[in-house]
Amino acid sequence: MPLSRRGSGTLLTPTGQHLAMHTRTQDDESLPHATKRRAHFATDLWLHSAKWSIRTMTDHLRRLETLFTLTPQRMRMITQSFRETLENGLEKVDQVVPMIPTFVFGWPSGQEQGDYLAIDLGGTNLRVCLVHLQGKGKFEVTQSKYRLSEEQKQDEGQKLFDFCAESLKTFIDSNSGEDGILHLEPGEKLPLGFTFSYPCKQNSIDHGILIRWTKGFGAPNTEGENVAEMFQKSLDKFELPVTLTALINDTTGTLIASHYVNPHTRIACIFGTGCNAAYMEHVKDIPKIKDLGIDGGMDMVINCEWGAFDSFEHEHLPRSKYDISIDESSNKPGEQAFEKLISGRYLGEILRLVICELIDDGILFLGQNTYKVEVTNALDTALLSLMESDPTEELLMIIGIFSHFFALETTLAERQFLRAIARLIGRRAARLSACGIGAIVGKMGYLENGCAVGCDGSLYNKYPGFAGRIQEGLVDIFGEKARNIYTHHAEDGSGVGSAIIAAMTKARKDAGIHAHL
Ligand code: GLC
Repeated sequence: MPLSRRGSGTLLTPTGQHLAMHTRTQDDESLPHATKRRAHFATDLWLHSAKWSIRTMTDHLRRLETLFTLTPQRMRMITQSFRETLENGLEKVDQVVPMIPTFVFGWPSGQEQGDYLAIDLGGTNLRVCLVHLQGKGKFEVTQSKYRLSEEQKQDEGQKLFDFCAESLKTFIDSNSGEDGILHLEPGEKLPLGFTFSYPCKQNSIDHGILIRWTKGFGAPNTEGENVAEMFQKSLDKFELPVTLTALINDTTGTLIASHYVNPHTRIACIFGTGCNAAYMEHVKDIPKIKDLGIDGGMDMVINCEWGAFDSFEHEHLPRSKYDISIDESSNKPGEQAFEKLISGRYLGEILRLVICELIDDGILFLGQNTYKVEVTNALDTALLSLMESDPTEELLMIIGIFSHFFALETTLAERQFLRAIARLIGRRAARLSACGIGAIVGKMGYLENGCAVGCDGSLYNKYPGFAGRIQEGLVDIFGEKARNIYTHHAEDGSGVGSAIIAAMTKARKDAGIHAHL
């Protein structure tokens, strides 16, 4: 039988015995509990002695627990430096956490009405929706989703926007006509909100210079460009009956949409392919836009782009060697340091790297061909969610995952161990998220009276226990008062939020309030 790349496999000896072989390829001084074995040969029987493997796994689990666990004291320190970073971003331009003024002024009234188109270029999908706002916090949404390929994310920027415009055209065409839901008069144009969830420096609500791609995108000729203008070019090309009213971030949309239905909402977070937050700030507390002469009594949404916290310098966050390895092999080394410890794009890969190391160390999957799990990004974060939620005593779900995706058999001890590591990684992500929320709560003084935090994204919605762990983390930071802060599943920010923002913007401009912004 062939040996795997790392040298695991079984051999049949001339005497007919099956021998498992494993070669250790990495010498790691930072693993005090690791049993050092350069190369060894042993019978299957010896290798699968439960006592031997359980003890070794326990040692590793202890080491990983220390690596991935955040103490309340450490969390309070992170929250404090996070808060200073946020304040810095409001004070000065071009900071690592850019604290972007969005030109979305104040909360919706809840009475916004009308038909709006929304397009959302997210991390994984492109979504097009028609939103019918009915007022009183009510709405109807009709939508289509298109999956983005990895190639599209790296293709020319203008081509990406052409794809957005073309998908919008398909949506409009297929929903128009006698049976359709769209009835446009000749020459009539529908207001369009563009949810573009990457850091953009805005001079006004319908403008945005892409600071940098995040979430694995790398389309050339887009960073440093006004993406609203690029998208307008594509809209013109396809002669679409729309007016681009607002360029928004998904967190901004989520904040406004969540407030539309739950007026206690003060903060919105996305925990999905990326990780970010937005909140409502007093214009007088955003010194860097003083020159714009905006009425200091007004409020404006700030898109924090907090995924960039601790980028480049790496002073505050507890990065393990697995995190460092993911960062270094990413298309943007050094960037999005906070996001890389939390978001769904990376958690599966963290677990996979731990697994690969333990294969190297002869702890997991002995004698099996492990090449499938050794492929970068082979373990999706969705699988971590499934592993954590396995309700069976035998952990049947984990048996299924490892045999189906990686052709690996697992012992019960291995499955319990794998689940425990998944739990450590998921828990750390939630507790770090609590530090970010805690920084905004502390800065805005929301602890006493409490507030709601609207959250969306696959991690928040699908990862078992994620919300509870955030809550637990907030209590570790602030004590029992933290129970005044509660997260809830947000309303659809990039559809409904974008439509409400388009309506708010139209009303503001019609009333001549900072109409040029
Ligand atoms: C990334 C993007 C940010 C977005 C977040 C969630 O962090 O930079 O704009 O809000 O992902 O999608």
